[in-house]
Amino acid sequence: MGALEQVDPEVAAVIRHEEGRQQAVLEMIPSENYASAAVIEAVGSVLTNKYAEGYPGARYYHGNRFVDDVENLARDRAKALFGYEHANVQPHSGTQANMAVYLGLLNPGDTVMGLKLDAGGHLTHGSPVNASGLLYHFVSYGVDRESHLVDYDEMLALAKEHRPKIIVVGATAYPRVWDFQRARAIADEVDAVLMADMAHLAGLIVGGAHPSPLGFAPVMTTSTHKTLRGPRGGMVLSDRRYRLRIDRGVFPGSQGGPMMHVIAGKAVMLKEAATPEFRAHAVQIVANAKALAAALIDAGIVLISGGTDNHLVLVDVRPLGLNGVQAADALEAAGIVVNSNPIPFDTLPPREGGGIRFGTPAITSRGMGEAEMKVIGQGMARILQAPADEGVRDQVAKTVRELTARFPAPGVPVR
Ligand SMILES: Cc1ncc(COP(=O)(O)O)c(C=O)c1O
Repeated sequence: MGALEQVDPEVAAVIRHEEGRQQAVLEMIPSENYASAAVIEAVGSVLTNKYAEGYPGARYYHGNRFVDDVENLARDRAKALFGYEHANVQPHSGTQANMAVYLGLLNPGDTVMGLKLDAGGHLTHGSPVNASGLLYHFVSYGVDRESHLVDYDEMLALAKEHRPKIIVVGATAYPRVWDFQRARAIADEVDAVLMADMAHLAGLIVGGAHPSPLGFAPVMTTSTHKTLRGPRGGMVLSDRRYRLRIDRGVFPGSQGGPMMHVIAGKAVMLKEAATPEFRAHAVQIVANAKALAAALIDAGIVLISGGTDNHLVLVDVRPLGLNGVQAADALEAAGIVVNSNPIPFDTLPPREGGGIRFGTPAITSRGMGEAEMKVIGQGMARILQAPADEGVRDQVAKTVRELTARFPAPGVPVR
């Protein structure tokens, strides 16, 4: 019996149940993935015991010989992987990474631009219920009503009108490629800093499956647990000239002691992401998303922007007479986990959402390919078109069981 089982059987049972769930379902929330056993081992280590406020070589506590080593490893690997001159690996999450950049580069009340929430922007891109929207004056650009592509003309017009100090590109629910060159030209016109929030895309960038913002955006943020397959956390990468302001924005600006065990997990993730296998995996994520999108379109499902260039698909479920929550509930009943999501120009309240968002990172980590995507896309379409049909649900659930048994989730114990 393990220590946890002995000390706290209730928590041990929750973890066992969650391991079983993760093995049993098709995890298609595009921001989720499976950290490797090596990453989980590092995160579960005694490094959690160490206080290390500050940065390697300049801490406010003693005894940092070894944690300095691990933070330096993580920083050096992040710089090598993404090509930026500076890396801060301490943010506790993607949200903390974004807030640290704002805190470091802006004064309260300054103007910033980001993508509208219903067009795929993240809460930290100026939502009125998020600290970003409460502390700074955000102006939002959107997507074109027909193509659902980012409206760079609108971005330019708004930038000229409002003269933001930062323009944020990147999204939480945008299935197409970002034009960093165009965004940089717009930022240059108004002397704004272009900030690329690559929380969703960082893993694809590593594999060349999405263009890199390097050379266009002097600041890039990301979370580390999505396509990068690391531990839950965030990072900021930047040109050297922003180094001090960003580091101060993280600590002491918005965080105290860094989570050294998580930083160790980030270091392991960055080593794994630098391998040829990971790069091939990133390419497969996009190939899988395209195959999934094709299967859905063939079955008559309406996709926002008509398809995908990256790891995710957004479906407009309103033509099916559903809202996003109803659609996600029906899919989960068959073992397919997605999330409800607002869609561009949504007519439903955000809590329901007119769409569902899902993607291929986690199922690609399980080793599935285009053939499986076709089967999954067909099954999803059948459920969405007949959400109350128990026969359809049972047939698709059987397919899900076969697939999950054939492709075990990596890093998740099978008991
Ligand atoms: C574009 C974008 N930025 C930031 C975040 C925030 O990351 P976290 O959940 O790690 O705070 C997310 C998370 O979904 C995101 O999609």
